[in-house]
Amino acid sequence: MKKINIVCLGGSMEQQSSTLAVLKYAALKLKELGADVYISDIRTLKLPVFSYKALRSMKNRKFTELVKKIQGADGFIFASPEYHGSVSSAFKNVIDYLEVLSDEKPPYLSLKPVGCIALGGAENAGYATLNSMVSIVHNLRGIAAPSSLAIGYGSSLFDAKGKLKSELIIKRVNRLAEELFLLAKRLRD
Ligand SMILES: Cc1cc2nc3c(=O)[nH]c(=O)nc-3n(C[C@H](O)[C@H](O)[C@H](O)COP(=O)(O)O)c2cc1C
Repeated sequence: MKKINIVCLGGSMEQQSSTLAVLKYAALKLKELGADVYISDIRTLKLPVFSYKALRSMKNRKFTELVKKIQGADGFIFASPEYHGSVSSAFKNVIDYLEVLSDEKPPYLSLKPVGCIALGGAENAGYATLNSMVSIVHNLRGIAAPSSLAIGYGSSLFDAKGKLKSELIIKRVNRLAEELFLLAKRLRD
């Protein structure tokens, strides 16, 4: 049977992005479950600020590859840091470029499940950002996974070796990955 394809999109523009590290952990879990996973680190996309002109003249190999992967995907994980109570502009900019999928039939991410992860620096952070991400998913006609999560204390989640150290976060990200895998399978088959 054809494998479940998942696109993991996110991170920040920082070289050591904890958002990207959590996204990579979710990707690993999805691979363990048997999915084919494509990770798009938004830092490597190097997209200019969105305009229709920029989109039309786009000759970006990484972005073209991402769009192809999105078109063939059964589900997604989005991960953004919380910047001033919402998604980062860099994350939102990539989302704006998904306007390229507006004329698809069906458009955007229609009826595909999306797990959202919002990472903030403060103790109880990320919830406002998570709400924005769910709104973005719905506007792209996708289905936000119920176990989508907000994570606080973003930069202290990892040990010196870069390993996720919070058992609670590991449990919640595992739950999201398992749920997304099942949703993707049920909605595809
Ligand atoms: C410009 C900027 C704005 C931020 N705004 C918030 C905020 O509103 N709430 C919060 O909890 N953390 C905020 N933070 C902290 C980041 O969300 C946090 O450090 C996060 O882990 C960064 O993710 P990264 O390591 O992937 O870059 C902000 C950080 C920056 C750089």
